[in-house]
Amino acid sequence: TSGGSDAMKRRAGESAAEAVTDGDVVGLGTGSTAAHAIRRIGDRVDAGLDARGVPTSFASRELARDAGVPCLGLPEAVGPDGPGIDVAIDGADRVAIGRGDDPAVGPLIKGGGAAHAREKLVDAAADRFLVVADPSKETPVLDRSVPVEVLPAGRSAVAEAVRAAGGEPTLRRAERKDGPVVTDNGNLVFDASFGEIDDPASLATTLSTTPGVVEHGLFVGLADEVHVGTASGVRVARR
Ligand code: A5P
Repeated sequence: TSGGSDAMKRRAGESAAEAVTDGDVVGLGTGSTAAHAIRRIGDRVDAGLDARGVPTSFASRELARDAGVPCLGLPEAVGPDGPGIDVAIDGADRVAIGRGDDPAVGPLIKGGGAAHAREKLVDAAADRFLVVADPSKETPVLDRSVPVEVLPAGRSAVAEAVRAAGGEPTLRRAERKDGPVVTDNGNLVFDASFGEIDDPASLATTLSTTPGVVEHGLFVGLADEVHVGTASGVRVARR
């Protein structure tokens, strides 16, 4: 859904796919970078790896089917008799990452593909969450608009709440359809611009406690590793 070269995205996705081990249940992220991980997991399943996926969207379920990765649903995976999720591999639109001596992984912005509600369920349920990205996603301070999925009937109330929190909401429109983007869950999406986000945890709490908000794209304290594909290889940053 955004910049960066496809070769860099592929290196990141394939690097994270190598972290999958026999018997794992794997959260399958959404977007062009996670797609490379899904394809590589499919190749490894063809070669005998025992792994099952939990898709985060309609699109990642289709991709997993094409790649030959057997899937189970999130409710089965995390239910009382379920196997749980060992590792999730997912992309991001922005990754806060320290510079120089402290390249620690911070919060993320996700939802460029409007899949962030199911992504957050799967990524948060996983024992380990690996982010896959190209260098265009890295930033010291989160500075992109935050996708906010809203119940259709709550759109005016949520827009007001975003303004009250210092943001400017824009209803996301579909490119090849008249009207708004409708999510896999039947809801609408605002892209809420707050400029530079100095305190992502506090903004996340404000958005989460706004009636009508189904889920927002700030992922705070969830990422364990980021695999950044570069021109020459892969850089891994940890929390
Ligand atoms: C989907 O809603 C997003 O959270 C994606 O994970 C994000 O947009 C990354 O996509 P790309 O890997 O295509 O940039």
